[in-house]
Amino acid sequence: MQKITLSNGIEMPSITLNDGLIVPSMAFGPGIMMRGRKLHQGDSVFDRIVRKFQWKIQFLYFRIKQTPAYKKSVLYAIQQAGFRWIDYSASYDQVKTIGECIKKCGIPRRDLIVTTRITNRAQFTHTQREAFLANLKELQLDYVDVLMFHWPVTGHFLETWKVMESLKKEGFAKSIGVANCHQHHLEDILNNGDEPPSINQFEQHPWLNQISLVDFCKRNKIVPQAYAPTARQEAIGGEGCLMEIANKHKKTPTQIILRWHIQNGVIPVVRALNPKHQCENIDIFNFELSVDDMEKMKTLNCNFRVWPNPDNCDFKKL
Ligand SMILES: NC(=O)c1ccc[n+]([C@@H]2O[C@H](COP(=O)([O-])OP(=O)(O)OC[C@H]3O[C@@H](n4cnc5c(N)ncnc54)[C@H](OP(=O)(O)O)[C@@H]3O)[C@@H](O)[C@H]2O)c1
Repeated sequence: MQKITLSNGIEMPSITLNDGLIVPSMAFGPGIMMRGRKLHQGDSVFDRIVRKFQWKIQFLYFRIKQTPAYKKSVLYAIQQAGFRWIDYSASYDQVKTIGECIKKCGIPRRDLIVTTRITNRAQFTHTQREAFLANLKELQLDYVDVLMFHWPVTGHFLETWKVMESLKKEGFAKSIGVANCHQHHLEDILNNGDEPPSINQFEQHPWLNQISLVDFCKRNKIVPQAYAPTARQEAIGGEGCLMEIANKHKKTPTQIILRWHIQNGVIPVVRALNPKHQCENIDIFNFELSVDDMEKMKTLNCNFRVWPNPDNCDFKKL
């Protein structure tokens, strides 16, 4: 396995995708979105009010978050903590800031991996190509390394996949992958596309370990990538085994979870705007979980989701 030596001296193993693109084994996701699960599924008065004014609230939230402090934090992740993979989506609103950070970070473009995703809106309106090219322009880039669709929008995602195949052939993306696909979505693409996806990015963490989907991806040479890899910290509490393993290795529960992903052959995309968290998250390549630790982690699975299930969601609201 090749290793990528980061500017801070950390050696991060790399992974070769099915199309030959070499990527780091961990990604940084600076994009911010309001919490999916509670927004869409909660039934309290608060949830209903938030749902009603969802887009206005998101707009304000994004504006507040696009501050110099936000930019500083994204730059810190690249320049100091050492992340080399920026995971972004056109449906997040910080596109300009992300583009500026990529440009100003001082890391040569060829040494960075940049992901973006085609929005559901573009899929519904059949404007995948135009929307992607506009996003690229806003990011001030000539190409992205990894292009995905954000969700497998029913009746549209195969068409989107075809557009993505063309964009790759034209050199706008080095690699094309998907997000939020269950096995049946992947089978549709494998049966109907000209090429297989290189990556499937989906919600995965110890409380939703998705063992069979991870296995299916690996059998088909699709690299599994975990979003919300720490379940947004929502489930980390008093779990005996997680604390016990963390204490044994003198690491934090978050570091144990991220290491668990790496040893499972899954690439975590973690978001941390706090520089202390960023440094902590990347400092996981100097210890190893035992077989016994890995077995204990399996017991945490309880099908807890932070984000909607792709088979049961309103794509227009995502
Ligand atoms: N494809 C998709 O549909 C999809 C959906 C959701 C997410 N994603 C991608 O996945 C990325 C991550 O997902 P996520 O934000 O939902 O979940 P997450 O990375 O599991 O959780 C992020 C939260 O964890 C906190 N955190 C991170 N490291 C920590 C540490 N060491 N100690 C304590 N707290 C820590 C962060 O706090 P601070 O910010 O304060 O550090 C933040 O509040 C996103 O940014 C995005 O790129 C993709």
